[in-house]
Amino acid sequence: MATKLAIEGGPKAVDKLGPFPTKIGKDELLEVLDLWQFSDGNMEKIRAIIDADKGVKGPHLFRYYNPRPSKVAAAEKAMKELIGTKYCMATNSCTSALIAAYRALGIGAGDEVIVPAYTFFATSATVVASNAIPIIADVDETLCLSAESVEKAITKRTKAIVPVHMRGGVAQMDAIMDVANKHGIPVIEDTAQAAGGSFKGKMLGSIGTIGCFSFDYYKVIVSGEGGFMTTNNERLYTRALNWHDCAACWRPDRFGPEKENEDLFCGENYRMSELEGAVALAQIRKAKTIVSKHFAAKNKIKSAIEKFKGLSFRRLADDAGDTGICLIMFLPDADTTKKVLPALQAEGVPAGGIYDSKVRDWHTYNYWEHILQYKSVSKDRLPWSGVPENELPKYTKDMCPKSLELLSKAILIDIDYNLQDEDCNKMAAGINKVLSAYLK
Ligand SMILES: Cc1ncc(COP(=O)(O)O)c(C=O)c1O
Repeated sequence: MATKLAIEGGPKAVDKLGPFPTKIGKDELLEVLDLWQFSDGNMEKIRAIIDADKGVKGPHLFRYYNPRPSKVAAAEKAMKELIGTKYCMATNSCTSALIAAYRALGIGAGDEVIVPAYTFFATSATVVASNAIPIIADVDETLCLSAESVEKAITKRTKAIVPVHMRGGVAQMDAIMDVANKHGIPVIEDTAQAAGGSFKGKMLGSIGTIGCFSFDYYKVIVSGEGGFMTTNNERLYTRALNWHDCAACWRPDRFGPEKENEDLFCGENYRMSELEGAVALAQIRKAKTIVSKHFAAKNKIKSAIEKFKGLSFRRLADDAGDTGICLIMFLPDADTTKKVLPALQAEGVPAGGIYDSKVRDWHTYNYWEHILQYKSVSKDRLPWSGVPENELPKYTKDMCPKSLELLSKAILIDIDYNLQDEDCNKMAAGINKVLSAYLK
């Protein structure tokens, strides 16, 4: 047996290891394909093709240090091009993107962030999860944050304003940006529900300081779970990247020292997987088509609805920039809405209410007990302990009456982008039929 050490020129004890089978192989692929619900016969054919391929290498489902071009990186590039920002970071959700955005801005204990009274709870919960205090402000007929309510809500502690482009519509970005710029406060556009929409020719998510998107299954363009953060600010991008990746341990110089002051801090793990990245990439490529089909179907239905006394539509800050994922009508009052809604549903129109004072729903602030009652996950009582008790916001269930009034008389009609002209005509006919019975 050779005794000369390899380091001294002797033979290596281990000349070769492997090749080993891939960690993620054919069984895992078949499980993924099962999600697509192929017919049994086709599944058998696919299985046979997969089994016959002896050279299959298998995927590397981690975006960093990937020997193949990363799908997540490709999705980021495609999203950057779609939205028109210099930087884009993929995350595992919009919730994560929002927290990364707040953290990138340095938001934490003692700070306040202005959020709308009508949004999915995640917009506000993420403020609390970042140890900051949400300040709840009214929405107007756009069902998005009103610039006037923002102006009134600003205090010395305000560190960000978060307009939410709710239900595929567009917030009043010029008026909100005017207020924000006047006070020097960054704006985070929560674009979770309106990817692909625009305001006066600029894509949503590119107008404020940061944009955050959701790709969860119920959104406009989807990857099951997933999110993106967009910005033109390199510094904020770097800090968000660090937060989303446990202090950026996967950056090219991996464990390198801090490059700029306040670059290095403890973060979490919000990375997107290659599986979601691949789905997101395919969806982003189709985003413009998906949005334009939604838009066309919605406007076909809207233009076929007759004029009725007491009927109005949600005001859009920019008609041309709407994604068209739904049509929102206002009826004269909540009582009429409660009668019209079941009648529309009985006709087969995919209609839903937005707010009913008797139905719990975390899209309206008055059910956010976690916030209204200053709840905290830990003994430190953050975020509420971050400011003197007498300076805490005075939350009440009826603090935004204008929002509640508008929401209680709204009816939302869901628009599927696969609707054909005939479907649109039938939906409009159903709406006209019901409204002529109730709005005489
Ligand atoms: C307005 C808004 N913001 C944030 C989120 C959170 O998105 P995600 O489910 O990707 O975390 C949602 C999701 O419903 C949302 O509607």
